[in-house]
Amino acid sequence: GMIHISSGNEKVILLCFCTESPSPTETDEEDEDIFNKILKVNKDSSQFLQEGDIVPRRSRSAINCRQCNWPQSSDGIVRIPYELDPAYEESHVKGIHDAMAEFEALTCINFVKRKAERDYLSIRSADGCWSNYGRVGGGQTVSVMKGGCMWKGVIQHELEHALGFLHEHSRSDRDKHVKIMWEYISPPDRPDFKKFENSNNLDLPYDYSSVMHYGPYTFSNTTGKATIVPIPDRSVHIGQRQGMSNLDVAKINKLYNCSRCSTILDGPSGSLRSANYPRNYSDNTNCVWLIRTRSRKVSLHFQAFQLQITKGCQGDYVKVYDGSSKSSPVLMDKTCGSKIPNGIVASSNLMLVEFTTDGAQTASGFQATFTAGKKEKLRNYVCYFAVSTNIKQS
Ligand SMILES: *[C@@H]1O[C@H](CO)[C@@H](O)[C@H](O)[C@H]1NC(C)=O
Ligand SMILES: *[C@@H]1O[C@H](CO)[C@@H](O)[C@H](O)[C@H]1NC(C)=O
Ligand SMILES: *[C@@H]1O[C@H](CO)[C@@H](O)[C@H](O)[C@H]1NC(C)=O
Ligand SMILES: [Zn+2]
Repeated sequence: GMIHISSGNEKVILLCFCTESPSPTETDEEDEDIFNKILKVNKDSSQFLQEGDIVPRRSRSAINCRQCNWPQSSDGIVRIPYELDPAYEESHVKGIHDAMAEFEALTCINFVKRKAERDYLSIRSADGCWSNYGRVGGGQTVSVMKGGCMWKGVIQHELEHALGFLHEHSRSDRDKHVKIMWEYISPPDRPDFKKFENSNNLDLPYDYSSVMHYGPYTFSNTTGKATIVPIPDRSVHIGQRQGMSNLDVAKINKLYNCSRCSTILDGPSGSLRSANYPRNYSDNTNCVWLIRTRSRKVSLHFQAFQLQITKGCQGDYVKVYDGSSKSSPVLMDKTCGSKIPNGIVASSNLMLVEFTTDGAQTASGFQATFTAGKKEKLRNYVCYFAVSTNIKQS
C-alpha cells in the first residue's frame, strides 16, 4: 500500500510493503525512515516548532517545570483528560487508543475522555506530529496527523512530550553518549539539537532505545551522513518508533511517583518468570509483562507453574490478554494451581501477561517463554511501517 502525507502543496508518498528480511536491522532502518519523513513534514508545518516537534511555550521555561506535570489523584492515578478530533476515522481512533493503552498498562498515567476538566489534551489531525512540552493549562493541542503520524511510537512520543519529557538526546549528559555532527546540520536546524544543561534526568541512565530519541540522520543536510552518532559504538541503534522502552516507562513512573511493576519484552523471543523464581514469590504484588514483538503473532509457553490454589483463582493468579491492555480480550482467564497451562497464541504481535498475588500463601510461581510466530519458521517476514494498524492506504 501507499501512504500519502499531504502538507500544504507538498505530498510525500511512503511505500508500505511486507518483505522477507534477512536481518532485523532492516526494520531498524525503517524506523529512522519514518521518523525522518515525519520531521520533514513538520518542517513545512505552519506551526512554529522547536527541536523538530515541540510547540514553544510563551512564558515558562521549558525545563524542570514542576507545575508542568499533570496532577495525581489520591488513588495514585494520573488522569489526563483528552478530546479526539472528530475528523479521525475508526482506525485512527483505534491506533491512538492502542498507543494510550500501553501507558495505562505500564504506568499510572491514564488517558480519560474529557468531561468538563479545564486542562486537557486536544488530539487533532493538524499539520504534522507535534506537541507542547508538559501541561500548559486549558486545552492544548497534540497534533497526530491522520496520514503521517499514525505509528504507535510516534503517538507515544508526542504524548510523552505532553507528559513533560524532552528528547533523550537533549539531556545534559548527552555528549557522553552521542556526538552531534554539526558539520552536517545547516544553521537554521542547529537549534533543534539544543542541549538542556538543567534537564531532569531522574537519576536514570541515558537511553539509546528511547522512543524520545532522534534517529541518526535527523535533519542531515548531506545524504548518508549522520547528524547523531552514538559513542563509543556508532552501531548502537537510535530512533526506534515501535513504542516506549523500559527506561521510558521507568522515567514516567519516577517522574509521576507511580508504583508499578511492569516490563516490556520486545525481542523476537525471550522469557519471563515470577519474581524470585524458583524461590517463592511475594505476597500482595501485581506485575505485568507487555510482550511486543516486531511482527507476527506472539505465542507463549509455560515451562513451570505453581501458584496458590483458591476458588475461582481469586487469590494468586496469572491472566493473559490478547493485546496491550487489561481491557483487551482475555486469552487465558485467571489461572492458579499447579497444572501447567496450555500454550497461548495472540492474534497480533502484542500480549499482556498479568501476575497478581494476595496476602496469603505463596509458591514458586511460573516461568514461560515467548516467540514471535512459529518456531520452525526459516524465513523472517517483516511488515515495514506497522501498516497493520491504522494508516489509510490506497
Ligand atoms: C551543511 O551544513 C554545514 C554546516 O552548517 C554547512 O557548512 C554546509 O554548507 C551545509 N551543506 C549543505 C549542502 O547545505
Ligand atoms: C512525587 O513525589 C515527590 C516527593 O514525594 C513530590 O515532591 C512530587 O511533587 C511528586 N510528583 C508528582 C507528579 O506528584
Ligand atoms: C513456598 O511455597 C510452598 C508451596 O506453597 C510452601 O509449602 C512453602 O512453605 C513456601 N516456602 C516458604 C519459605 O515460604
Ligand atoms: Zn519530539
